[in-house]
Amino acid sequence: MTDLNPQARQMADESMVRNLAAQARAIWPQEMPLLRRYALPAEARILDAGCGTGEAASRLAELFPAARVLGVDIIDSHLDLARSRYASFAPRLAFEHQSVYDLDTEDGSFDLTVCRHVIQSIPHPDRVLAELARVTRPGGYLHLIAEDYGMLHFQRGALDPRDFWHVAPRSFEAATGTDLFIGRNAFGMLAALNLEAIAVDYVIIDPLRVPRETFAQILEAWRDGYVEAIGELTPISRESASAYFEQMIASIRDPLGYAVWQVPVWSARVPRNG
Ligand SMILES: C[S@@+](CC[C@H](N)C(=O)[O-])C[C@H]1O[C@@H](n2cnc3c(N)ncnc32)[C@H](O)[C@@H]1O
Repeated sequence: MTDLNPQARQMADESMVRNLAAQARAIWPQEMPLLRRYALPAEARILDAGCGTGEAASRLAELFPAARVLGVDIIDSHLDLARSRYASFAPRLAFEHQSVYDLDTEDGSFDLTVCRHVIQSIPHPDRVLAELARVTRPGGYLHLIAEDYGMLHFQRGALDPRDFWHVAPRSFEAATGTDLFIGRNAFGMLAALNLEAIAVDYVIIDPLRVPRETFAQILEAWRDGYVEAIGELTPISRESASAYFEQMIASIRDPLGYAVWQVPVWSARVPRNG
């Protein structure tokens, strides 16, 4: 049987808790206006599929003050952390153990289904997107952050990070049965589901838009969570992966340095007569 959670170890690691916090601080300011466009009913029902530690679910509850938000994930420690951190939003904000492959929810239950930073990490993303579309009401929206590891760009130093990004993701995805370039492949999957109004916007994480320290913390968390697996699953050794990360982190902290992560944010509407 395919491992449906090949990054289970990295996802549950403390470095992921830090990573999700830094990513949310970096991305949310640019993501908020995209979410506001959906013109949701005041008491909207919102699903955050693969909610992790609740970074986005809590921000959604804050952004839409009368909405009911359900976050689901399969890592209980993340769900426990989310429940304790965001207890003040309960019961309007709830967290449950559910898998995005098989949600325990009737068809058409949500006005908005959000799924951030998940589908690049698991196999059969097309099955997950179909499940997310199923639980979204006709006329409701899917909102996806689909990472793409060909959309990270760093300057050359003693090492050339282009070599790292050309090699590591390709080997890593082959070893884990995932698609680390799903940012560009999501369009075809959404179109195959006959969804409407498919659109993509790019959140730009760079030192001109995001504090250098926040950007650096994302890379530090990736280093801490992934160099071991990169050493095991790709031709790049653990030591070499660490050296690439150190250089990339230093270049982000360098006041004269520039780097950019382009983050695709896909949206699509479930047809009214579907
Ligand atoms: C990188 S984290 C993103 C968390 C959150 N969406 C955010 O933006 O902060 C990916 C999350 O997907 C979860 N995940 C992986 N497979 C899942 C599944 N089958 N069902 C539900 N969640 C899953 C992981 O446990 C992890 O918490």
